[in-house]
Amino acid sequence: MTKQKRVLSGIQPSGLMTIGNYIGAIRQFVAMQHDYDSYFMIVDMHAITVPQDPEKLREQTESLAAVYLACGIDPEKATLFLQSQVRAHAMLGWMMTTLTYMGELERMTQFKDKSAGKESIGTGLFVYPSLMAADILLYDSDLVPVGDDQTQHLELTRDLAHRFNQRYGDTFVVPEGHFTEVGARIMSLVDGTKKMSKSDPNPNAFISLLDEPDVIRKKVSRATTDSGREIVFDRENKPEVSNLLEILSAFSGQSIKALEAQYEGQGYGAFKKDVAEAIVATLAPIQERYRDIRASGELHDVLKRGAEKASVVAEATLRRAMERMGFVQP
Ligand code: TYM
Repeated sequence: MTKQKRVLSGIQPSGLMTIGNYIGAIRQFVAMQHDYDSYFMIVDMHAITVPQDPEKLREQTESLAAVYLACGIDPEKATLFLQSQVRAHAMLGWMMTTLTYMGELERMTQFKDKSAGKESIGTGLFVYPSLMAADILLYDSDLVPVGDDQTQHLELTRDLAHRFNQRYGDTFVVPEGHFTEVGARIMSLVDGTKKMSKSDPNPNAFISLLDEPDVIRKKVSRATTDSGREIVFDRENKPEVSNLLEILSAFSGQSIKALEAQYEGQGYGAFKKDVAEAIVATLAPIQERYRDIRASGELHDVLKRGAEKASVVAEATLRRAMERMGFVQP
C-alpha cells in the first residue's frame, strides 16, 4: 500500500474569518480531508506577531476552532490543533530562523504591507515566515492548501527545506502549494484591486462568515461596480465585477463562462442579488452549526486530542532535525 499523502495548513485567529479565507483555504481543507492525511492548525503563535489582547485572542482562537468544525472539518478524519499546544513549532521555528537570510525576509510582501507606516516593528513579524516554514516541515507535508497571498511564504519554506537538506543531509520533505482554481484571491468589495482582508478598517470591504443574511445582502448591494452595464470577466478593466463573478462562481459551482452567458444583457441589480443569495445559502447552515458547537463545549476535547496526535508527528521530525544539526540528545 502506498503511503497517504499529507496535507497541512493554518489560519491565524486574528478576528473574523472572511469569505476569502473560506474559499481560498477552509473549503479546500474540507474537500481534501477525505483523501489525505490532514493536519489543520490555528496559528496562535503567528497571531502574537502583532499586539493582541489576551482575552480577545482566547475568544478568537475558540471561535476559529468552531468555524473549522462548522465548515465541515471532521476531527475523526483530520487533526485539528493549536500551534501553541505543540511546542516543537517554537523549537524548529528557531532553527529555521537561524537558516533564513535577512534579505529573504525583507523581500516578503506581507511583511512590507504589515510594517508599512509603523514606527516600531516587532521582530516576530519579521521572522514570521521562518516559523511558518517550521509549521509545514514538522509534518513532512506534501501539500499546503492556501490562498495565493501565501505563495511567497511557501517558496521560502521550500528554499529552507532544500537548504537544510543540503547542509545536514536529507531531512525534510519539500512541500508544494495547493491553490483553488476559482477564488485563490478574493478581492475587497469596495476596491477590486485590493485583497479582501479581515483586518480591513472598512467592514463593507469584506463579508465575514458570521455576518447575518441581511448584512451580507446590504454589503453585496453596496459593493463597488463600474459605470458600465456588462457582466463580463475582465480583471484589468472591470476588477470589481470580475471579483463578484468569481465569488458567485465559487459559491454556486457554475463556471464563470456560464455565468457571463446567463447574465448577458442584464443589469448589475439582479446579478448582485444572486451573488448575495448564493453566499447566504452556503453560510446560513454553517452559522447554525457554529452556534451549536459553541454551545456544546466539545471544542476543548477536540483540540486536546488534536494536539496529542500532532505532537507525536512533530516531535519525531524535530528529533531527527536536531540530531542532524548537532544537538546532543538526552
Ligand atoms: P491567514 O490567516 O492570513 O489566512 C488564512 C488562509 O486564507 C487565505 N486567504 C485568502 N484566500 C483567498 N482570498 C482572500 N482574500 C484570502 N485572504 C486570506 C490565505 O491565503 C490562507 O491560506 N501565514 C498564514 C498562516 C500560516 C500557515 C502556516 C498557512 C501559518 N503557518 C502553515 C499554511 C501553512 C496566514 O497568515 O494566513
